[in-house]
Amino acid sequence: MRRREFLAITGVGGAALLSRPAFSPKTNLMMEENTMAYTAKDYSQLIGMAGFSETLLKNHFTLYQGYVTNTNKVLDALAAMLKEGKTATPEYAELKRRLGWEFDGMRLHEYYFENLGGKAALDPNGKLAKKIVESFGSTEAWEKDFKAVGTMRGIGWVVLYEDTAAGRLINFWINEHDAGHPAGCQPVLIMDVFEHAFMIDYGLKRADYIEAFFKNIDWKAAEARLK
Ligand SMILES: [Fe+2]
Repeated sequence: MRRREFLAITGVGGAALLSRPAFSPKTNLMMEENTMAYTAKDYSQLIGMAGFSETLLKNHFTLYQGYVTNTNKVLDALAAMLKEGKTATPEYAELKRRLGWEFDGMRLHEYYFENLGGKAALDPNGKLAKKIVESFGSTEAWEKDFKAVGTMRGIGWVVLYEDTAAGRLINFWINEHDAGHPAGCQPVLIMDVFEHAFMIDYGLKRADYIEAFFKNIDWKAAEARLK
């Protein structure tokens, strides 16, 4: 199979095809089997969550699956360019830039879906609540700040990050997927504020979506991320 054809068939849902060996006619090298390809996770258990329609969630899952597929495609194409000695090219440079967008689009959605679907409130005596109070003075002050970041104009993510070097929590605005992540920090709670995350259900009422998000936070999942 020629490399171009190989890439063309790996659309959404085609990630499994990446494990097939492919033949590169230019280098005459058999491409190694890609056993490290990413696989999209199944978040269908979130369907039925209050404040999130099935249509919105299914669209969001499809979008996420596209990031997984594209992360695999970009990594595979970069590996082939490395083997073929094409690293000093504009194509290689642009694909390297693209990798951060696709990879973060994949991983941030996984954090987001995995901190949803919770039923219980934040345990005021738990490790996370204590850390929030240490860093913000109170859980109310933290929530006010997190929601304020979420209603900022623009598309992106709100992330409660743990600065593991200093031991404090900070709410960050992440522009798009790949700009603004604090180096070496641990994501604890993630909220998607791209328009696709809420417009189907809420139109321009982003604050109402944020309220629905808060009602469904899986606090145990968030707490388990603390280092
Ligand atoms: Fe999203």
